[in-house]
Parts: sequence; C-alpha cells; structure tokens
Amino acid sequence: MQPSPRLLILTFLILISIQVAQVIPEGAEDGWRVFSSAPDSEGRCICTVVAPQQTLCSRDARTKQLRQLLEKVQNMTQSIEVLDRRTQRDLQYVEKMETQMRGLETKFKQVEENHKAHLSRQFQALKSKMDELMPLIPVLEQYRADAKLVLQFKEEVRNLSSVLAELQEEIGAYDYEELQSRVTNLEERLRACMQKLACGKLTGISNPLTVKTSGSRFGAWMTDPATPEGDTTVYYMDGYHNNRFVRVYKSLQNFMNADNFTVHRLPHPWSGTGQVVYNRTLYFNKYQSHIIIRFYIPSERLLTQRSLPYAGYNNMYPYSWGGHSDIDLMVDESGLWAVYATNQNAGNIVISKLDLTTLEVLQSWNTGYPKRSAGEAFMICGTLYMTNSHLGGAKVYYSYNTNTSTYEYTDIQFHNQYSHISMLDYNPKDRALYAWNNGHQVLYNVTLFHIIKSDEL
Ligand SMILES: *[C@@H]1O[C@H](CO)[C@@H](O)[C@H](O)[C@H]1NC(C)=O
Ligand SMILES: *[C@@H]1O[C@H](CO)[C@@H](O)[C@H](O)[C@H]1NC(C)=O
Ligand SMILES: *[C@@H]1O[C@H](CO)[C@@H](O)[C@H](O)[C@H]1NC(C)=O
Ligand SMILES: *[C@@H]1O[C@H](CO)[C@@H](O)[C@H](O)[C@H]1NC(C)=O
Ligand SMILES: *[C@@H]1O[C@H](CO)[C@@H](O)[C@H](O)[C@H]1NC(C)=O
Ligand SMILES: *[C@@H]1O[C@H](CO)[C@@H](O)[C@H](O)[C@H]1NC(C)=O
Repeated sequence: MQPSPRLLILTFLILISIQVAQVIPEGAEDGWRVFSSAPDSEGRCICTVVAPQQTLCSRDARTKQLRQLLEKVQNMTQSIEVLDRRTQRDLQYVEKMETQMRGLETKFKQVEENHKAHLSRQFQALKSKMDELMPLIPVLEQYRADAKLVLQFKEEVRNLSSVLAELQEEIGAYDYEELQSRVTNLEERLRACMQKLACGKLTGISNPLTVKTSGSRFGAWMTDPATPEGDTTVYYMDGYHNNRFVRVYKSLQNFMNADNFTVHRLPHPWSGTGQVVYNRTLYFNKYQSHIIIRFYIPSERLLTQRSLPYAGYNNMYPYSWGGHSDIDLMVDESGLWAVYATNQNAGNIVISKLDLTTLEVLQSWNTGYPKRSAGEAFMICGTLYMTNSHLGGAKVYYSYNTNTSTYEYTDIQFHNQYSHISMLDYNPKDRALYAWNNGHQVLYNVTLFHIIKSDEL
C-alpha cells in the first residue's frame, strides 16, 4: 500500500503573505510545504499545505513538528497577554461609563415623572442628548463579551500548551492531526479577535504619567512602534530648530533612570517637533524647507529625501504654539502620514498618506480645520484627532476619518499638566500618546472603542 500524502487546508487570516512563510516552514525536510496560496473572495489568504508523507513522519520529524507547535502556542500566549492587558484596561473604563450612563438614565426618568407638566427646554435638550447616547449601551455589552472571549482564549491556550508539553514527553500517543487543527483553529480566531480589537475610535485619554523632566520647553520624544515586544528604545530630540543631534536611550527604564545615551548626528538640522521613528528609521522635516528626510539611525545613512508638494513651512502654517511645527509626521496602524497645510486648502489641515520608502504622497485629504488653530494632532487607526489648543484646558476637539472622508466634532478631555504641549503623538504598539509638555516627557494611555457594525449587535 502506497501511503498517500495527507492534505491539510489551512486558512489563515493574515495581513501579509510573508507571514505564511514564517508560520509554516517550507521544504519537505522540515515537515510542511506550502502548496499554493491565493486570496479568496473576501481577500483572505488561503494556503494549501501539504503535510509530510508518512515515511517522513519519523520520530525526529514529529519531535520537530511538536517543537514548532509548542513555539506557536507560546507566541500566541504572548499575543493574548497583550490583548488581555489592553482589554482589561478598556473594560474598566467602559464599566465606569456604563454605570454613569445608567445612573443618569434613572435620574432623568425620575425628574420626568415628577415634573411632567412643566419641563424646561433645557431639560428636553439634555434628554435628547441622553437618548442619542443610549445606543452605546449594546456596544458596551459587546465589549464585555469580547473581554470574556479573551479570557477563554487564555484558558484554551493554557490547556493546549499543557497537552503539548505532555506530548513532548510521550510522542505518538496523540492524534497529531487533531492537535494541529486545534492549534490552527485557535490561531485563526485569535488573529480575527486581535484585528477586531486592535483598532477603534478614541473615546478616552488617561491621566498623564510624567516619565522624565528634561530638556527645553519644546521637543519630541518617542519609541519605535515597529520593534519587537519588550524593545523600548527611546529617541529624543530636544528643541525645534538649530539642532541635528538625536539621542538614543537603550530602554524606557534607562531613559527614566540614567542619562546614558548614544548620539546620532543628522545630515541637516530638523524643523519643528513632528519627527517620527519607524523601524529604526527617522523621518523628519529638513529645516527651512518642505523636504522630508528618511534617515536610518544605526548606520547614520540618509536613505531618501523628497519634498512634500505645496506644504507650508517656516512658520507659515504651524500649530498654535508656533515653533516651525508646519509639518507633522506620524505613524499609526496603517503606516506613515504627514499633517500640514497648504495655500490651496486655505491654510486648513491636509492629511497625506506617504509611502514609507519613497516618501511619495499616496493619497491626500483636505480637512476644514485651520492648522494654526490646532494645538496638536495625532493619528489613530486612520483617524486624525486635533486638539484645540496647546495650553491648559485643551481637549480633543475635532477628528477626521480618512477611511470615510468625514469629520466630527469631539469632546475628549485630557489633562495638560505643565500647560504647554509642543508635541503629541500616538504610538500604535503600546497604544499610548507621547507628549512633550514644557520640558516634561509625558505619557497618556488611550481607550479605543472598536466600531461594531449594527448587524453584529
Ligand atoms: C514565534 O515568534 C518568534 C519571534 O517573533 C518568531 O521568530 C518565530 O518564528 C515564531 N514561531 C512560530 C512557530 O510562529
Ligand atoms: C481546559 O481544561 C479544563 C480541565 O481539563 C477543562 O475543564 C476546561 O473546559 C478546558 N477549557 C477549555 C477552554 O478548553
Ligand atoms: C552607559 O552605557 C554604556 C554602553 O551602553 C555602558 O557601558 C555603561 O556602563 C553605561 N553607564 C551607566 C552609568 O549606566
Ligand atoms: C524593518 O527593516 C528591515 C530592514 O532593515 C526589514 O527587513 C523589515 O521588514 C522592516 N520591518 C518592518 C516592520 O517594516
Ligand atoms: C473602512 O470603511 C469600510 C467601509 O465603510 C470598512 O469595511 C473598513 O473596515 C474600514 N476600514 C478601517 C480601517 O476602518
Ligand atoms: C497604561 O496602562 C498600562 C497597563 O495597564 C500601565 O502599566 C501604564 O502605567 C499605563 N500608563 C499610563 C500613562 O497611565
């Protein structure tokens, strides 16, 4: 009897095809081979994986496969931990909000019943605002269900890793195919869940945490969102002009506790505080120009420079605090963005998506928000949020969603502790806002609501 190769169809919800190669080793000797790969009608990537022939399933091959499964499960455990931390944090916020809303609702009902005859117009207005908020409650409930789901994931992974660990001791005692499909199934659901929870709409900003007090009143500091979990290298740029020295601290801990850093010299000084680091590459606005430079920090190499068409510079369209903050670069979940203003758009904010490598403008959106009236702006999940001042009492006042090309007025409070914010940027890796507040380096956590379509409720 000829042992036929077993065919396994694995469907992964993946972002890029490269990940397939990482998850499934190629080549028959390694056990698995990618047979074909094509996007299905929903844009998902389908991989047909040919499992090894029986003869190859020797003890050694199985051990190797088990080791890989185990590693995969360990990786999942890490992802789940991150997810869990975020979800728990958001859940606390959600629960507080829900209690408040329900409390308000009861109060309204009481007032309404007691004074039905002579309700003031103001009360009516308040009540209709409250009614507008009510549909949020099912969203909150969905959120609680998601948090439960994460806990369930955690338990499943724990169970699975103990099975795998036992199995490593005693190979052959388990149906390998079933095990593989359990891992795959779990991985698939985890990916879907991560994707769903990763993005959303900003609904809250935590109290600030002062990480350090250093430098002048104006500057920029950040960590790199493209580094692996655990890498918290800090990049630090003091001042908004006449400076070309970037400080690099090994970790956030290092930044807080020691003044121990390496210095990298840029080929040109920067303008403003809109720099961003992505994958150890600094993107910055060259002084006295609308040129953007892409600079690889470890080898101090200028990789690309390109001008940003029509962008105002040299304090033509800065943020409200001035400081040559005409061009603000930022990175969110979907890539690199430039925020600036043009004469063509009457000094209102223009948002452009840039190619990470060539710095070419891929697409632009014209907002109706005057750049000089914005305190700062930051991008989360393709939505730009603008504050209405760099001074105390500022709030996130306006948002522009590039996905739908629509804007919205918002009322999201945050505490401006040292009264002058010259930089505010979102980091998609730790979902935090980094701020330079009058010579203090400050962090805020953000709460994001994933947007749930009504047919999911
Ligand atoms: C687990 O994660 C590490 C680091 O991200 C990666 O190198 C490795 O290939 C992953 N293993 C599997 C089986 O996905
Ligand atoms: C994990 O294992 C325990 C004990 O065997 C079992 O009761 C529980 O249902 C399992 N959980 C999941 C999510 O499979
Ligand atoms: C500073 O960093 C260097 C190299 O990274 C290290 O050799 C040195 O011990 C550090 N000094 C302090 C005071 O941490
Ligand atoms: C980071 O840059 C390296 C090359 O230096 C590249 O191989 C890698 O894919 C990049 N990572 C991301 C997340 O863009
Ligand atoms: C953009 O909008 C479309 C349709 O409105 C939606 O399906 C998609 O998930 C949105 N993408 C993001 C990143 O929000
Ligand atoms: C953000 O949340 C994390 C996890 O809950 C916490 O460790 C961290 O201190 C918080 N940071 C701020 C600025 O509140």
